[in-house]
Amino acid sequence: MISNADKILVAGATGGVGQLIVAKLLAKDLQVRALTRDRSKAESMFEQKVEIVEGDIRYPNTLTEGTDGINYIICCTGTTAFPSLRWDFANLFQPANNPEAVDGEGIKNLVNAATQDLKRFVFISSCGVLRKDEFPYSILNAFGVLDAKLTGEKAIIESGLPYTIIRPSRLIDGPYTSYDLNTLLRAKTDGKKAVEIEKGDRLNGETSRIDVANAAVESLFYDTTVNQEFSMINSGDRPNTTDWKQLFFDLQQS
Ligand SMILES: NC(=O)c1ccc[n+]([C@@H]2O[C@H](COP(=O)([O-])OP(=O)(O)OC[C@H]3O[C@@H](n4cnc5c(N)ncnc54)[C@H](OP(=O)(O)O)[C@@H]3O)[C@@H](O)[C@H]2O)c1
Repeated sequence: MISNADKILVAGATGGVGQLIVAKLLAKDLQVRALTRDRSKAESMFEQKVEIVEGDIRYPNTLTEGTDGINYIICCTGTTAFPSLRWDFANLFQPANNPEAVDGEGIKNLVNAATQDLKRFVFISSCGVLRKDEFPYSILNAFGVLDAKLTGEKAIIESGLPYTIIRPSRLIDGPYTSYDLNTLLRAKTDGKKAVEIEKGDRLNGETSRIDVANAAVESLFYDTTVNQEFSMINSGDRPNTTDWKQLFFDLQQS
């Protein structure tokens, strides 16, 4: 069971899901190290409440400091599925920050940098990785994002490290831009619809970033999520409280 003696690396901490994950880990009094390519961005975001380490998952030699002494990794890095400025075409001296480099090779690099006694690698993947030929996933995969996510998943599974793979559908809910940490901590932490999770890759719909963050953090508290891959959407009426223990138990039994 995770405790506040453990240290958790959040790769992609400055992203939409990542910021929420950091806020939830801090709310549980857990120790967080944020991995970012831009220290000053992370410093202004996290207000000295987390340790910040610079690293780019395209480059294995930048990941040693980030993974040193880490017990858990939650990885929610990502880039756009279609060509955009975030692919960093401008720099001819480095590989584009595209899905193949980030979601595929980058995950391999992070897995290789993890210490062998890592207690869990939690990875935010995507719905559609096992049905890339079906609409709309065939369109989404036009530039290989689902191929790359599956490459990342395989690297994690084949590493032998304990893992949890979460496959959300199209992401909704903020933060769409950077909030300050206190705002995030005070933020209403539940989406509007109920959480639905299922083994494999058959769900379609929308998924709240808030619940992706909830699922990633809550999974660390339950052994029922070890070595599980599940897809996740929001649908139907939301109960007053989401019973993650029950959801994960049902998942394991299914
Ligand atoms: N958008 C969707 O509808 C959708 C659907 C299913 C799954 N997903 C997945 O859900 C996850 C979270 O999405 P989101 O909206 O929170 O993403 P986001 O806001 O775009 O955040 C992406 C994060 O990845 C980091 N990153 C990008 N390239 C990196 C690199 N080369 N090395 C290290 N870090 C890098 C960025 O950090 P820095 O810039 O600070 O380094 C940023 O923190 C992603 O894995 C995404 O693929 C998204």
